[in-house]
Amino acid sequence: MLGLVSALVVVGVIAGVLAWLLNDPKPPAGAGHAERLYYAYCVTCHGVGGHGSWRAALFLIRPGDLADAVHRHPGSYLSDIIKQGGAPLGRPGMPAFGFHLSDTDIEALIAYLKTLERRQAEATAVVNDGREALR
Ligand code: HEC
Repeated sequence: MLGLVSALVVVGVIAGVLAWLLNDPKPPAGAGHAERLYYAYCVTCHGVGGHGSWRAALFLIRPGDLADAVHRHPGSYLSDIIKQGGAPLGRPGMPAFGFHLSDTDIEALIAYLKTLERRQAEATAVVNDGREALR
C-alpha cells in the first residue's frame, strides 16, 4: 500500500515538473496583436525578452539575441528568415512561419521585436558612460 502511495506521489511530482516545463509564458493582459503572435509562436525558443529562452538552452538550441538581431540586420533578411526559416540562409535552427503568418503579421512582429530592450547595447552604453565619467 505504502509502495503504491509513494509511486503515485512520484508520478505526481514528475507530472508537475513536466507541466511546469512545458507551460509557455502567457502574454501580459492588454497585449497587442503582434505581442500575442510573439508569445504564440516565438517565445518558446527566443524567450520573453528575445534574449533566448532557458528551455532552448536546455535543448542546446542557440536562437541568438533577437532584440539585438533586429537592429543588426535589414528588414528583408528578417522577413525572409521568419517566412522561409533559417535553412535557405544557412541558419538551420530557425523554423519557417510562412504557413502560419501573413506578410502583415510578420511586419507587425518585426516592429514588435524592435521594441524589445537591447541588452548588449545597454551594456555598451553603461561601459561608455563609465569611461566618460573617468575622463
Ligand atoms: C524552435 C525554436 C524557434 C522558434 C519557435 C522560433 N525561432 Fe527564431 N530562431 C531559432 C534559432 C535556433 C535561430 C538561430 C538560427 C541559426 O543561427 O542557425 C533563430 C533565428 C531567428 C532570427 C535571426 C536572428 C539572427 O541573428 O540572424 C530571427 C529574426 C528569428 N529567429 C525570429 C523568430 C520569430 C519572429 C519567431 C516567431 C514567429 C521565431 N523566430 C520562432 C529558433 C526558433
